[in-house]
Amino acid sequence: MHLNRPTTPASRAGHWDTVYDTKGEDGVSWFQAVPTVTLELLETLGIGPDRSVIDLGGGASVVADHLVELGYGDLTVLDVSKVALDDAKRRLGPAADRVRWLHRDLFDWTPERGWDLWHDRAVFHFLIDEEERRDYVEVLRSGVADDGRVVVATFDAHGPTHCSGLPVVRYGAEDLARVFAPHFEPVEARAEEHLTPTGLVQPFTWVVLRPAS
Ligand SMILES: C[S@@+](CC[C@H](N)C(=O)[O-])C[C@H]1O[C@@H](n2cnc3c(N)ncnc32)[C@H](O)[C@@H]1O
Repeated sequence: MHLNRPTTPASRAGHWDTVYDTKGEDGVSWFQAVPTVTLELLETLGIGPDRSVIDLGGGASVVADHLVELGYGDLTVLDVSKVALDDAKRRLGPAADRVRWLHRDLFDWTPERGWDLWHDRAVFHFLIDEEERRDYVEVLRSGVADDGRVVVATFDAHGPTHCSGLPVVRYGAEDLARVFAPHFEPVEARAEEHLTPTGLVQPFTWVVLRPAS
């Protein structure tokens, strides 16, 4: 049992707002100045600036900054934390107008379209109940274009057991891809060692998936 685990949209918003308020956008453990793996995968997958991208649980991530700079014109960032989205908007300045910001809880949201790329770095691993993972996959199924791609990054099997005071599920690439079967099939996987702002190494598993044919 995880008694203090936020399980409603309002409590999740409160939890994550407090985390961003307390640590600041570049003090959180998942901060990265350059989203290296994301940019490499976009290149490898051939998903260029003319394609649509959603950063699911993007928070205050610099993915938006980099994609705007590269000319991506159909970019959406969804997050339950208004504090995180406001931090990102402030940082981007006038360029923030080139991004569609959705202040929503993913479990309280119905995608109104399918994106060419669904990008989730360090969100899915917070789903510790099977029902939550099933619900996520259902949302994902309506949020990805038929020929779209899904990028999901979680802590790997040797990564931390918690993040921001919440328990996480850790995955190897095969385990992670299996959660999305039979609706999605794996395209490729990567391992990354993320360096936190305090100098700790956090191993991540990245998988790329596509809707199963
Ligand atoms: C560990 S952070 C990762 C942020 C970002 N993806 C990155 O790599 O910098 C997890 C993010 O997921 C967001 N989040 C958690 N649960 C969510 C939910 N149910 N719906 C939408 N966003 C959520 C949090 O507000 C937070 O910004």
